[in-house]
Amino acid sequence: MTANPMSVKDIDIKDIMKPAADVEAYVNSFLESRPLPQNLLEACQYALLGGGKRLRPILVVRACEAVGGHLEDALPPAAAIEMIHAFSLVHDDLPAMDDDDLRRGRPTLHKHTNDAMAILAGDALMGLAFELISTRVGNTALAGQIFRELAIGTNDMIAGQVYDTLPDFPNGTEDLEKLVTIHRNKTGALLRASCRMGAIAGSASAEQLASLTKYADAIGLMFQVVDDVLDVTQTTEQLGKTAGKDVEQDKMTYPALLGLEASKEEITRLHLEATEALKDFDAGADPLRKLASFMAVREK
Ligand code: IPE
Ligand code: IPE
Ligand code: MG
Ligand code: MG
Ligand code: MG
Repeated sequence: MTANPMSVKDIDIKDIMKPAADVEAYVNSFLESRPLPQNLLEACQYALLGGGKRLRPILVVRACEAVGGHLEDALPPAAAIEMIHAFSLVHDDLPAMDDDDLRRGRPTLHKHTNDAMAILAGDALMGLAFELISTRVGNTALAGQIFRELAIGTNDMIAGQVYDTLPDFPNGTEDLEKLVTIHRNKTGALLRASCRMGAIAGSASAEQLASLTKYADAIGLMFQVVDDVLDVTQTTEQLGKTAGKDVEQDKMTYPALLGLEASKEEITRLHLEATEALKDFDAGADPLRKLASFMAVREK
């Protein structure tokens, strides 16, 4: 496998992504098991189940398997992280935040319903994610650790959204330091939680957990650098969300601060860093290696 493949067509992740269907079924059966108001249930289903790449839950599953765990161990944290991710997107799109009308090729939840429902469905998805971990992970010691990772990831993501939207950095903070802080939190935190929860669910050793955390931190930052690049290089139709949004809203992004070429070099560097973090793993980590390659060259 090359460290920097030519294009996304060189990478076939169809088999790696197969458990996404299991995660979706698991999420839906959990939602339907709760006595939610019908309109809230439908809003949660709209936010969760109509498209999306499902990269976070697949990272949970593949990190779990890389340390010898099984799909069934990974399903609760995989479902929970996708619920937190869906909540983050619903709130990110609200008029008071990024004010976006399009997500995953469809109207955003607040356009499909209304602002109040989008706020409340986001709130509900967060609470439901934690409820799911506490009720569906049988081993209470593991449940506690997974719960903690999910909480830290969620809180850091929210902090990142604050840095992004209402920046309040100490005087004298360099722009690049601000940018890295925004990205590591708003996006990196959930990718870190994904890999760490998967590793914990698979009973990883301390060394394995440390290596997978390094992998996660590299792909976590890389993921948002790619997202920033795609915002300026792709069309709205290709992305299924509004292109050019970051410039329009004067966001601090990699292309805005460093330019497109340096942003692409950073993607290559972080991809190598991710690959390097997995050097002590055998072929069981090949799906993670392939996912990192895919994330580096994805086109949406
Ligand atoms: C979009 O995440 C938000 C970011 C953190 C950049 P994804 O690109 O994973 O969105 P979906 O789930 O595939 O729609
Ligand atoms: C995503 O950042 C961060 C979270 C949703 C937590 P963006 O605002 O760049 O994501 P998109 O581009 O709207 O998906
Ligand atoms: Mg945003
Ligand atoms: Mg946004
Ligand atoms: Mg973006």
